[in-house]
Amino acid sequence: MDRESIQQTIRERRTIRTLSDQEISIDIINELLESASYAPYHSKNEPWEVIIVKTLQDRQLFVEKIMESYDRLNSWARYDQQNQGSARKKTQDYFLNVPLTLIVTAPINESPKKNLEAIGAVSAFIQNFQLVAWSKQIGVTWRTIPVIFDEAFKQEIGVVADRQIIGLLSVNRIDEPIKLPTSYRKPVTHWSAHLSEKLKGMSESDEIS
Ligand SMILES: Cc1cc2nc3c(=O)[nH]c(=O)nc-3n(C[C@H](O)[C@H](O)[C@H](O)COP(=O)(O)O)c2cc1C
Repeated sequence: MDRESIQQTIRERRTIRTLSDQEISIDIINELLESASYAPYHSKNEPWEVIIVKTLQDRQLFVEKIMESYDRLNSWARYDQQNQGSARKKTQDYFLNVPLTLIVTAPINESPKKNLEAIGAVSAFIQNFQLVAWSKQIGVTWRTIPVIFDEAFKQEIGVVADRQIIGLLSVNRIDEPIKLPTSYRKPVTHWSAHLSEKLKGMSESDEIS
């Protein structure tokens, strides 16, 4: 196993929002999904389910439902009155040009533990998908736009009531040459600490307040 190349793929993967109209075959998508499904999970059944939006008819229906949901949620109100129409059209055009979307869901569970485990496992599934896609020159944007919390939208796109959308994945081939977005991560020392340091820091801040 080439562990170095796994590390390189993890570090190099970027969210790709630039669209291309190159076809992605369903065979490739199925291969990527199969790889993604080797994510860890902690439930009786694998928690992920995926709805594939690929044909022109499905894409048009999907975008129609997104736009209706945005309207329902009054999402355009944050724009000035005169800009609302163009903002709506821009959003609609963008989504219509996404060649393929995956609607990835997890079961909703009343137990916080089971719910966390389902969301965690499906998030690992999504990241696996992003990484294998990247290794095949396919870009992904993991989206959690407000419509995913709209019950009417969920129902209209075939997500049953006892499941939650963890991501809408916009998927498209990466055209070469492409200027990759840069991405910065804080050094490990900014967000990690030994337990004793953490507790010391907390007791010191208690003393100050
Ligand atoms: C849970 C989650 C939700 C996200 N939702 C959105 C989204 O709604 N729209 C979007 O453009 N990007 C979304 N992203 C992508 C992030 O903005 C992106 O991962 C981040 O800017 C870091 O860039 P990188 O993926 O290139 O490292 C989401 C990412 C995650 C993990």
